[in-house]
Amino acid sequence: MNQKLPFEYKLYKEISELPSDISKLLQKAEEQLAYSYAPYSQFHVGAAALLDNGDIIAGCNQENASYPLCMCAERVALYNIGAQYQEFKIVALAITAHNPNKKLVDPCMPCGACRQVISEFEQRQSCDIPLYLSSKDQYIIGLTSNKVLLPAGFSGNNLL
Ligand code: THU
Repeated sequence: MNQKLPFEYKLYKEISELPSDISKLLQKAEEQLAYSYAPYSQFHVGAAALLDNGDIIAGCNQENASYPLCMCAERVALYNIGAQYQEFKIVALAITAHNPNKKLVDPCMPCGACRQVISEFEQRQSCDIPLYLSSKDQYIIGLTSNKVLLPAGFSGNNLL
């Protein structure tokens, strides 16, 4: 039996089209680009998560000369939330990127590992996390959930 998985998204041409709390969130993600440590890839990524208490927890990618140790911006932000803000739900996650050597015209899509981690956070909080994906000064894609990017993903359900 063939099934079709939909991929629906909202397209915002610029940051001013976003709801005001989300445009503030994306601005926080953009601010993180300045703190990104990306001397090897030059690919600077900023992420910011809005919590249900109104706090914004942000992060940026952290690279290492031992390349596999590089950590994505999303996971820096999310693991900080896991460590310090477990009692709050994430109501939105914004991600943006900038490469000084290359004009990015497409939004920064979370890598497969980050999709898996976002998925676990959705499961932990029993609620979807809308994603707002962009590249600096470019259009924005809004998704209702990480499940749009990682349908039928692996979960801990069968481990317990
Ligand atoms: N990167 C992120 O921070 N998030 C992603 O979802 C994609 C990749 C970072 C990791 C590395 O520092 C650089 O971008 C190039 O892969």
